[in-house]
Amino acid sequence: MTNKSFENLYDWDKIQELFNEFLPELIDMQKNIKNNDPLLELSEDKRLEIDNIGFKKEARKPEEVTKQLIENIYPYRMKINHPKYFCFIPSATSPYSVFGEFLNSIYNPYGGGYTISPGPAEIEKETINYMGSLVGYEVKGLGGNFVSGGSMGNLTAAVTARDDKLPLEKLSLGTVYVSDQTHSSMAKGLHIIGVPTENIRIISSNDNFQMNSHELKNTIINDISNGFIPFLVVGSAGTTNTGSIDPLDELASIAKEFNLWFHVDAAYGGSVLLSSHKDKLKGIEKSDSITWDGHKWLFQTYGCAVLICRDKLKLLKSFHADPEYLKDVKSTEDRFNFWDMGIELTKPARATKLWFTLQTLGLDNMKKTIDQGFIIADWIEKEISKYDDFEIVSHSQLGIINFRYKNDKFSEIELDKINHRISENALKENDSAFLTTILKNKTVLRFCCNNALTTKEDIQSIILNIRKFIDNNI
Ligand SMILES: Cc1ncc(COP(=O)(O)O)c(C=O)c1O
Repeated sequence: MTNKSFENLYDWDKIQELFNEFLPELIDMQKNIKNNDPLLELSEDKRLEIDNIGFKKEARKPEEVTKQLIENIYPYRMKINHPKYFCFIPSATSPYSVFGEFLNSIYNPYGGGYTISPGPAEIEKETINYMGSLVGYEVKGLGGNFVSGGSMGNLTAAVTARDDKLPLEKLSLGTVYVSDQTHSSMAKGLHIIGVPTENIRIISSNDNFQMNSHELKNTIINDISNGFIPFLVVGSAGTTNTGSIDPLDELASIAKEFNLWFHVDAAYGGSVLLSSHKDKLKGIEKSDSITWDGHKWLFQTYGCAVLICRDKLKLLKSFHADPEYLKDVKSTEDRFNFWDMGIELTKPARATKLWFTLQTLGLDNMKKTIDQGFIIADWIEKEISKYDDFEIVSHSQLGIINFRYKNDKFSEIELDKINHRISENALKENDSAFLTTILKNKTVLRFCCNNALTTKEDIQSIILNIRKFIDNNI
């Protein structure tokens, strides 16, 4: 067999042609995202069409397959970077991240360690050091790892905390403290590492959705007296529901008093450290570890988050492996392999696109762009305050605001249904995309506003459309 037999697989000329043909159209699509519907529903017919594509022995024309993807697959998605998209935590993706991702894709550097890709590894280390310095950790001792998302960051922290604070044979006695607003990925991570679900203590939050620190302390004391081994407190810097920030200073002191690991889930709110509002995160510097996502408020394409630990050696204790096939490429003091600080051995060099974005955008622009999220949520608050039958359930904070339609002539159950209908209608009309959540047992409309391209006029027209729906249908 000659190498010619494999030309198809390595046909870079064909790929060049595909780029020439499709790239302008794809870039135009993103530039004009605002003119698209925020959502295109996948009808049953279209779904079956996709399922019936199947897999064939013969090669298909790449142009044809590309067109199929562009016309029949990708349109059926919520446009997460649409300025009228406010669901989940939007990833209002920057084209700089897209280009950074492309560079990474074409070089495809090994992202797990130094010997194979010293250049990208150095970028990852420098990015972690910079982000860690923003947290307030001393750069000299810190360690970290870029992971695929906040869930993986929280899992990595859970493993590290367990190994540092809890003898493995006492796993069934270990207790963890989260709030009723902590992201569900934390409980998932704790389940994965073997912490019994009933040992996760859910501390209530106050009216501002912040963990109640007195209750935290009392619960820890009670657990100790009952023979449990408290080992981890999880604070949130930017909860998913409301953007609330736990009293990090107080949580840090309690964790210290009882010798618990203090992890801060800053998957969303970590980016505030790059904004004008960084003082809001006071106390985060006392944490043992943090999770911070690039694909949330740093405008990265998916698969970009970081776990940073104050003490690199704690990560090493949990994740260092020394098999015979890695002996030639061991970590050294100033070249620490990422596989020694996390779960993955092979991984993409995830930091490069974020580094590229920070370099090309500059920190001043990044600050303004993050600040804009706060401003947009304030616009919503101002707009809805004009109406007596809107109740603000959680005020604008960290770019998130929750409100609901409220009218005494309806029962609470009816109001929950009405608020669901408001969200469903906006999607159905393809006006905007916002979902509901539940706060204080009430269904509320949740807007997460981190897309700096959302204008005041967008907000006014969304609220006006909600009003029209209410006036005509409720
Ligand atoms: C506060 C918080 N932590 C963790 C996560 C999980 O992150 P990921 O979806 O990247 O796994 C989320 C996701 O929205 C989040 O808001």
